[in-house]
Amino acid sequence: MSKIVRAHTNIALIKYWGKANAELRLPLMSSLSMTLDAFYTDTTIEKTNDDPAFYLNGKKQDSKQSQRVFSYLAKLQNKFGFHDNLIVKSVNHVPTSAGLASSSSAFAALAAAFCQCYNIQVDKKELSRLARSGSGSACRSIFGGFSVWQKGDSDESSYAYALDEHPQMDLHLLAVELNTKQKKISSTSGMKEAQSSPFFNPWLERNESELKQMITAIKNNDFTALGELAELNANEMHAINLTAQPEFTYFEPDTIRAIKLVEDLRKEGIECYYTIDAGPNIKVLCRLRNSKEIVERFKSVFNNVNIVIANFGPGITYLD
Ligand code: PMV
Repeated sequence: MSKIVRAHTNIALIKYWGKANAELRLPLMSSLSMTLDAFYTDTTIEKTNDDPAFYLNGKKQDSKQSQRVFSYLAKLQNKFGFHDNLIVKSVNHVPTSAGLASSSSAFAALAAAFCQCYNIQVDKKELSRLARSGSGSACRSIFGGFSVWQKGDSDESSYAYALDEHPQMDLHLLAVELNTKQKKISSTSGMKEAQSSPFFNPWLERNESELKQMITAIKNNDFTALGELAELNANEMHAINLTAQPEFTYFEPDTIRAIKLVEDLRKEGIECYYTIDAGPNIKVLCRLRNSKEIVERFKSVFNNVNIVIANFGPGITYLD
């Protein structure tokens, strides 16, 4: 019996938004993220003499739904020289709605469960590389706390490392679920389109210095510097989407209303910042002591809003 592998999602504070090599999933920029305790995927993989099958949340997926998982596993089997049929069971504790990438926890868990199924001994750097080849952001979910994905320029040199697995910073994330519609533009096509923006290269040129500033903010336990920079970096990413040719955006009217609310709260002295990924929902970065008040304000402005509070999560975990 394989053990269950648990991987947590992560939220990028310095974003990955562009591929240098789509096949290998090498990024054009380095990125930095916070692993979240509230959202995770549990996965087991076992060999079978029957047909391969992928179960998600207890439901057998059809061939279209299973395609990305099995083509990823086939890639790993090729690499290590295995040919068995596999049964994959995943349970996603991540809202499937827009904006919270379950692919980071999903592919980190798949990579680790694959190694566990075949008893392949890999260190975390190697595991991060394997996860990267399934979904870029997954390479950061191998680690807890804060992790950095150094872009590298080859399969060997592109992987994440732990910056601080047990951060002391009072940093909490409120995942605000405004719009439960599925996202319209996948991150893969968004990243591709974004490169047509005249601001794409200037943004890329800023990556190294923004990453350095973020690492300094973390080392100095400086919540303000971290929040300001995370917000700027997210806005830069969404600005290049808006200036791509043709332009596109993940924002919905409620996204702008939520941004305004964060700005209002800040003006009132409640320090909080936002970050936004490839979907309409926002995530608010705040201190624990302000979280209750922020949640209440969101609930008073938005009907039926669902808010989950998250803190730092661990890296890959093997459950008994
Ligand atoms: O790894 P992907 O293909 O899910 O892309 C993730 C892209 C962002 O979430 C928007 C940014 C990031 O670095 O996680």
